[in-house]
Amino acid sequence: MTALGIVGGGQMAEALVSGLLAKKAYLTSEILVSDPNSERRDYLKDKFGIAVTENNRNVSQCSVLLLAVKPQIFSQIIKNMGAVAHDRLLLSILAGVSLQQLETAFPGNPVVRVMPNTPALIAQGISALSYGKQVAPDQQQTAQNIFKTVGTVVEVPEALMDAVTGLSGSGPGYVALLVEALIDGGVLVGLPRPLARSLVLETFKGSVALLQEQNLHPGELKDRVTSPGGTTIAGIAALEKSGVRSALIQAVEAATQRSKALGS
Ligand SMILES: NC(=O)c1ccc[n+]([C@@H]2O[C@H](COP(=O)([O-])OP(=O)(O)OC[C@H]3O[C@@H](n4cnc5c(N)ncnc54)[C@H](OP(=O)(O)O)[C@@H]3O)[C@@H](O)[C@H]2O)c1
Repeated sequence: MTALGIVGGGQMAEALVSGLLAKKAYLTSEILVSDPNSERRDYLKDKFGIAVTENNRNVSQCSVLLLAVKPQIFSQIIKNMGAVAHDRLLLSILAGVSLQQLETAFPGNPVVRVMPNTPALIAQGISALSYGKQVAPDQQQTAQNIFKTVGTVVEVPEALMDAVTGLSGSGPGYVALLVEALIDGGVLVGLPRPLARSLVLETFKGSVALLQEQNLHPGELKDRVTSPGGTTIAGIAALEKSGVRSALIQAVEAATQRSKALGS
């Protein structure tokens, strides 16, 4: 029996296979991926040396099953996966598909709902995990071990999944927008765009690392870099005048509401 079967060989599946093999969580012979697209199957087979199939029923035979298709085709997938034995652990990264929907679709199976984010593509994601009623402690560990190969793992009650989606799920989009705007700002004050890009990306990277490594409160870092009558406080005053802080808070709230609406 293949150890891990993945339904849908897209971006997230590729990131996970890459992480799992790099961290030696599974051997190439232990992973099977299904995808309807033959070019995609050939690509995954050639890149990783894993087994591929176009038949989702083959994946249903694996010990651990991971659903990695678009949420819109969830009901189609349930039908063409066929019967899944009750001892199989089922993991789903489908945005908006609840534990209750998973437990209804796979009655008797332990199910885990996961919300990863895009930096998982370079093993620097953060994945939030919520467990269904029938997940045993060793199965929780299995789920964590899988997602740890593409970044950090946190456990949350399912009631917080929409909030997680609005913050870390949508977060790469917010960061991209901030980075782009700062680069434009650099260009406005006369910097060549490639130089502005390097300055912004390294400033983000370094500032985040400083906050993490010294476990600093963000306000403390801000206070450290603002001297009386200096340049940074002038920039921060302009940000506050434009309501950037409030805009970001509202962005998380709006995305969370949208996630709730899509899931209901
Ligand atoms: N990417 C992210 O950053 C991210 C973050 C959080 C959650 N997610 C969730 O992860 C899931 C996958 O996202 P993704 O970005 O990896 O999407 P994706 O790249 O579109 O991958 C989905 C794959 O499933 C294949 N597929 C379509 N119909 C299928 C079927 N009947 N049986 C098996 N495979 C089928 C698709 O093939 P075709 O392209 O030929 O249709 C595609 O290769 C989504 O539910 C999304 O909500 C993604």
